[in-house]
Amino acid sequence: MKSSERSVSVWEATREQREFPPLQGEVRAEVCVVGAGIAGMTTAYLLAKAGRRVVVLDDNAVGGGETGQTTAHLTSAMDDYYHVLEKVHGKDGARLTRDSHQGAIDAIERIVTEEGIDCDFARVDGYWFCGPEHGRDFLEKERDAAHRAGATDAEVVERVPGMPFDTGPALRFPRQGQFHVLKYLEGLVRCIERDGGAIHTGNHVDGVEGGSPAKASGKGFTVTADAVVVATNSPISDFVAVHTKQAPYRTFVVAGRVPAGSVPRVLLWDSLDPYHYVRTQPAEGDPAREWLIVGGEDHKTGHHDDADERFARLEAWTRARFPVQDFELRWSGQVLEPVDFLGYLGRDPAGHENVYIATGDSGQGMTHGTIAGLLISDLVLGRANPWETLYDPKRKTLSVDSVKMFLEENLDVALQYKDLLPTGGEVKDAGEIAPGTGAILQKGLTKVAAYRDQGGTLHQRVANCTHLGCIVQWNSEEKSWDCPCHGSRFSAEGDQVLNGPALGPLKPYGEEG
Ligand code: FES
Repeated sequence: MKSSERSVSVWEATREQREFPPLQGEVRAEVCVVGAGIAGMTTAYLLAKAGRRVVVLDDNAVGGGETGQTTAHLTSAMDDYYHVLEKVHGKDGARLTRDSHQGAIDAIERIVTEEGIDCDFARVDGYWFCGPEHGRDFLEKERDAAHRAGATDAEVVERVPGMPFDTGPALRFPRQGQFHVLKYLEGLVRCIERDGGAIHTGNHVDGVEGGSPAKASGKGFTVTADAVVVATNSPISDFVAVHTKQAPYRTFVVAGRVPAGSVPRVLLWDSLDPYHYVRTQPAEGDPAREWLIVGGEDHKTGHHDDADERFARLEAWTRARFPVQDFELRWSGQVLEPVDFLGYLGRDPAGHENVYIATGDSGQGMTHGTIAGLLISDLVLGRANPWETLYDPKRKTLSVDSVKMFLEENLDVALQYKDLLPTGGEVKDAGEIAPGTGAILQKGLTKVAAYRDQGGTLHQRVANCTHLGCIVQWNSEEKSWDCPCHGSRFSAEGDQVLNGPALGPLKPYGEEG
């Protein structure tokens, strides 16, 4: 097992992840889906059900990427707020946004019911409550925008009922949802196989070509297909177009058990930036207790290496409000924040024929991934979809807010290139690197990502990200090398890509040519 193994989420701790024999050789399909997370599996499910011959490829287990790191809130209460979306995308855009996220919750419920998937799906209310910098007027402003967007049942209440602390006023969104995401994906696996689809894991796709047919390939395998859907969280099919329009953030989660019924079954978010997000989950085999899952403390990927402090703050925040003593699990995940607050779902923006992408989940990956499945399956089947223009990956949104965010995020990327200067490493000598840790060394003009494994062996790779060359940074919590520019992540040894858009591992030091 790689030393870069990450911490385990509550879903992974309570459910085996499904792996399948890897594909070898050449296969012809009607649709090839790259990525077995919620977006890819929903797309594959819908297309297989519509009679298409589908092949799913992933280098991880099913749900083994960012989907397994979610907290699985199913919500149409937008984390970038309706009053902001309305300014950026207009009233119609805000309405379509609400339709699509509420439609995604409805679609999940429909699939769960029709296919008999036992995944702890429940309809719950969601509540925004105020952080210290906001008051009731903030909630009322958001309520009014939510009403204009079609969420006419959103209402401001005096406090979240039944909470063990006084939340103060809160904005309630009825008929949201929650589920156990890996159990849900297990159900989709069964349906895809029933409908003739094939799923392969252990296949790292490092080439996607448009055309008729389009193609997805890696070491020792190729799938040609009428359509290739790239659902890899961060797309690996284009190198620039979409990556300048979104920014990667790490978010942190802790989970502990509370007495059953001591925390109401709702979704809860505060209005801080970054915000806290809270839900419960039944604890299998432990009916007297249930999981309390709390997330927050986000930072831009590769910009900080202080996960312990962030986890400690999350735990303190939680202890001050909920009856939890021990935190059994902690993990982190990556969130891609689009500059105009909506994801990119649809035809490949770089113009590759018959290639489709799904990315830019923001903090709402479960509904967003489901919207991706609904929208992209319609496009592949040649059917009209009301959300196509809203989520078009080629769109340019020229509102003040989106242009400001675009400039800020790309200035930040530009600033990362200063690290290319030979200004020295984080440590002077490899002897300073303790077992199980990594640091950047300066060797001549080259920056080296050096990791010492527990056995004492030093692994040295060129620290330039194989996407567009930024210098990667050590992530001591996940034991990975993370790129601060567009979020690529690499194993501690540097020999594996954990997250795109990079396609290949870090180059071995001494062979950089
Ligand atoms: Fe783009 Fe690393 S992810 S340079």
